[in-house]
Amino acid sequence: MDKFKRTLVTTALPYANGPVHIGHLAGVYVPADIYVRYLRLKGEEVLFIGGSDEHGVPITIKARKEGVTPQDIVDRYHGIIKKSFEELGISFDIYSRTSSKIHHETSSDFFRRLYEKGEFIEKTSEQYYDPEANQFLADRYIMGTCPHCKNPNAYGDQCEACGTSLSPLELIDPHSTISGAKPILKETKHWYLPLDKHEEWLRKWILEEHKEWKTNVYGQCKSWLDMGLQPRAVSRDLDWGVPVPVEGAEGKVLYVWFDAPIGYISNTKELLPNDWEKWWKDKDTRMLHFIGKDNIVFHCIVFPAMLKAEGSYNLPDNVPANEFLNLEGDKISTSRNWAVWLHEYLQEMPGKQDVLRYVLTANAPETKDNDFTWKDFQTRNNSELVAIFGNFVNRALVLTQKFYGGAVPAIGELAEIDRQTIAEFQKVKANMEHNLDIFRFRDALKEAMELARIGNKYLADMEPWKLIKTDEVRTATIMHVALQIAANLAIAFEPFTPFTAKKLRNMLSMSEIKWSDLGRIDLLKEGSHIGQVELLFEKIEDDVVAFQINKLEEAKKKNELSNYKPAEVKANVPFEEWEKTDIRVGTVLECCKVPKADKLLQFRIDDGMGGRTIVSGIAQSYPEPEKLVGRQVLFIANFEPRKLRGIVSEGMILSAVDADGKLVLCEPSREVKPGCTVG
Ligand code: MF3
Ligand code: ZN
Repeated sequence: MDKFKRTLVTTALPYANGPVHIGHLAGVYVPADIYVRYLRLKGEEVLFIGGSDEHGVPITIKARKEGVTPQDIVDRYHGIIKKSFEELGISFDIYSRTSSKIHHETSSDFFRRLYEKGEFIEKTSEQYYDPEANQFLADRYIMGTCPHCKNPNAYGDQCEACGTSLSPLELIDPHSTISGAKPILKETKHWYLPLDKHEEWLRKWILEEHKEWKTNVYGQCKSWLDMGLQPRAVSRDLDWGVPVPVEGAEGKVLYVWFDAPIGYISNTKELLPNDWEKWWKDKDTRMLHFIGKDNIVFHCIVFPAMLKAEGSYNLPDNVPANEFLNLEGDKISTSRNWAVWLHEYLQEMPGKQDVLRYVLTANAPETKDNDFTWKDFQTRNNSELVAIFGNFVNRALVLTQKFYGGAVPAIGELAEIDRQTIAEFQKVKANMEHNLDIFRFRDALKEAMELARIGNKYLADMEPWKLIKTDEVRTATIMHVALQIAANLAIAFEPFTPFTAKKLRNMLSMSEIKWSDLGRIDLLKEGSHIGQVELLFEKIEDDVVAFQINKLEEAKKKNELSNYKPAEVKANVPFEEWEKTDIRVGTVLECCKVPKADKLLQFRIDDGMGGRTIVSGIAQSYPEPEKLVGRQVLFIANFEPRKLRGIVSEGMILSAVDADGKLVLCEPSREVKPGCTVG
């Protein structure tokens, strides 16, 4: 850090085709915000840049689906995203957008400069073209049959059924999703960034000069470099984006991954029109990109190559990418609505910004993918934030109110235990710094929490609430030390839980805080007054968590239903064959679980012919079999009897298999005589 005077921190620009969710937060925005707040507390010069990524094919697809313009889509989500970041306390110096005029100009100029310097190669290739819509087709706009698994609905870039990456040319029977037409191959010219030409310096720069990068980042870069870099197209045939600013490029725009990172520059310019260059070009400015792991290649290889080709820009000093956060054991997915959306969280859990920030940091996917569960959220709130941090602060402040009318008592002579406690909490600063400086925010948070633990233990051991009766002088010292620990917490937690830190600061009447004050035991002056005492955290009850889990389950169900594709129809059966099946109506007389078989129910059916026993594999869909008594069912009456778990089953009960796999009994739409035939 010593070589640098200031730090520019960027965060991946989220696509404005949906709101942001906890995966984005844990991966990028919360860690970046922690880091920036930490630097600001240290009094360092720092600039924190964010914004929405408003180009790319998915936005055009969404717009087409909704019958609105891409601009409508990005206006909607940019608004939601910006507001929700603000409410969560992500302290951007600017949060702008790539559909802005200044961004179009900046990225266009950037392209032109590279073009004029001869940094691109031009190549003509054949690409799919929709002859009815008269346009080239992005991979996502082409569908066809997957050559690997024969899924008829594979996309031109990927088959979602078997997960294989595809090129549109591999699809069997491709069609355009715009017009339905069969696409034709047509020649088109594009500009490519010859990454192969940059390989050598990239290898040296990353693999030799940046061994300190996180192992997940370094490892991914190494494997890209070892595979050998290829030229990458930086333009597309599309009508949404930044037009390619050279002659003969009508109908072409910059590839979204070319213009988006330039958004960091545009946003800096927008904020500091006269002073932006020092943040990008001065050698004593350090640049950091906070991103998720899917963005590593773009930020460690492609964007640096663009910057290098331009010639006047700095390269990033570090790219602390995180892995992914899963949700309740499943990959977060926007399209499947398997996510906790930030704007919804803020609405449903008002005032609980810090709880989310805390949980996402404590469980951040820093070195491997991690899982978010609502149960864990509740536990961390109740047994860490409430029981340790909140409890300590509350005790210290309430006792101060009670014993001293809210004035910080005088410190007397220190006992050994006080000295030990102070020595212990004074280690926290160095431990936190060590971790913060290498982007290990989980461990840094643990250290901050350690401070609260120390305070909690100190009060529990000293029991000032008892001691006050026998030794007022000693009690005053203990309370003084406890209050100083509370004041330290207001500093240590400011990067992680800024709303709580502020509340605490107000309660302790602390005006200004500085990182360098952490560890001091004279932050609060004797006699200074503490304000109104409020709880820092509240317990989260089971029903709150149950509501959230239920919401996720509903989303899952809805998604399964909407994605449902009926099974393929079996081969035709001649009428004479079909006629052999004898389906009847029966009334359930008895129904119970078959012991030791979790799937089976045993029915006694009134079949109008003296009754029969049928065993059916529907127990999981009908957990209360006794409730079926009296209902009518359809069953196959001439099904060869079979023994199941020692019970002879004389038939088969018919049920529908719903999209979620649940079995649903079929019954006649009004009661009929048991034994009636069905046909
Ligand atoms: N929109 C991209 C994503 O969500 C990230 C863009 S980062 C930038 O994956 F560098 F291009 F801005
Ligand atoms: Zn497939």
